[in-house]
Amino acid sequence: MISRFYNPVDTRFGWGCLEQLASITAEQTVALVTFPEARALGLVERIQTLLGERLVYLVEDVQPNPDVAQLRRTYEHFWQHAGTCDSVIAIGGGSVIDTAKALIVGTDFGRFDDLLALLATGKPFVPSQAKTLIAAPTTAGTGSEVTPWATIWDAEQQKKYSLHLDCTWPAVALIDPQLMVTVPASVTVSTGLDALSHALEAIWNRNANPLSDTYAVSAIEDILECLPLLRNDLGNGELRSRMALAALKAGMAFSNTKTALAHSISYEMTLRHGVPHGIACSFTLPLVLGLAWGQDANRDRTLQRVFGPDLLRAQEQLRSFLHSLEVQTDFAAYGVSAEQAKVLIEQALQGARGKNFIGSASNVA
Ligand SMILES: NC(=O)c1ccc[n+]([C@@H]2O[C@H](COP(=O)([O-])OP(=O)(O)OC[C@H]3O[C@@H](n4cnc5c(N)ncnc54)[C@H](O)[C@@H]3O)[C@@H](O)[C@H]2O)c1
Ligand SMILES: [Zn+2]
Repeated sequence: MISRFYNPVDTRFGWGCLEQLASITAEQTVALVTFPEARALGLVERIQTLLGERLVYLVEDVQPNPDVAQLRRTYEHFWQHAGTCDSVIAIGGGSVIDTAKALIVGTDFGRFDDLLALLATGKPFVPSQAKTLIAAPTTAGTGSEVTPWATIWDAEQQKKYSLHLDCTWPAVALIDPQLMVTVPASVTVSTGLDALSHALEAIWNRNANPLSDTYAVSAIEDILECLPLLRNDLGNGELRSRMALAALKAGMAFSNTKTALAHSISYEMTLRHGVPHGIACSFTLPLVLGLAWGQDANRDRTLQRVFGPDLLRAQEQLRSFLHSLEVQTDFAAYGVSAEQAKVLIEQALQGARGKNFIGSASNVA
């Protein structure tokens, strides 16, 4: 069988690599998109110093889980006032990078609802204009810096949109672990678990290939070892670097496979129960591992490279790992009854991401 691995992002990794932003954007005018704490952390000033007058626009109020209500204002203001800038640099977690992915996709008249209408079709389209995106993650989690996807939330309507175009691949990713040392414990854990989920979802996935497996297995091994240590030593630069690399590897893995059942379940848990993304997509991992196991001999072999040959032991390893990070692994802990959970899993299997799951065709729920 011939497999293909494709990732067009110019990916740079290393302590302090954010400095390369100046040379990467030489001669260009740049808009910065970042998170509310960035100014107090000195990050906005640092970018102002790096880029000088080439920094022409700033968005610094991005809230977790970009929602259409806020994005509409941000988008329309951006296209009115920064429509001529050359590139957009997103410095933040997945919420900032996903916001920037939506911003760079220009509609004819800069109207956000025209973009939403295109997203609602679920079909690819060619935008009338687009900016170049550079992404520097400040959390070790989403991998959004090396994927083309963005999740746009609509809390009021209880739904989400998935953005994915050729132009939403970042041109450059700057993974600088130094940016991550200020991430608080709870976000360090939830984002690290998001990365673990990306790696596992890349394995129990119909689109898996030998290279995505290589990235995924390596990411899982690193995260299982590193995340508990980091949680107790948040200022440790070496552990921050290892987690940053692990999240990057997980991002590379699922950049070619998309996510699967655990993420499909997570969207409901975030929209209806307010569970943060990283927890919502990881508390079911022991359960989903059980549903994946035995579906496909080739996938079993990859899972067993990490967990060994015994399913019950593998599930217990994952469960106690999550419990050690104070993450509950049953639906009841999140206010979802067993009956509701059964329906939720069945519906999640029918969702776009659920269909990537290797067990989705059989009656696993
Ligand atoms: N595009 C993708 O491929 C992809 C994959 C997974 C998740 N996502 C999306 O990403 C979002 C979640 O992103 P996230 O988990 O990175 O969290 P986040 O971006 O929402 O950030 C979480 C919190 O941490 C703060 N923060 C971020 N960096 C910090 C730093 N260096 N120091 C101090 N505080 C900091 C933020 O301001 C925020 O309050 C969700 O909306 C999810 O849908 C996207
Ligand atoms: Zn995720």
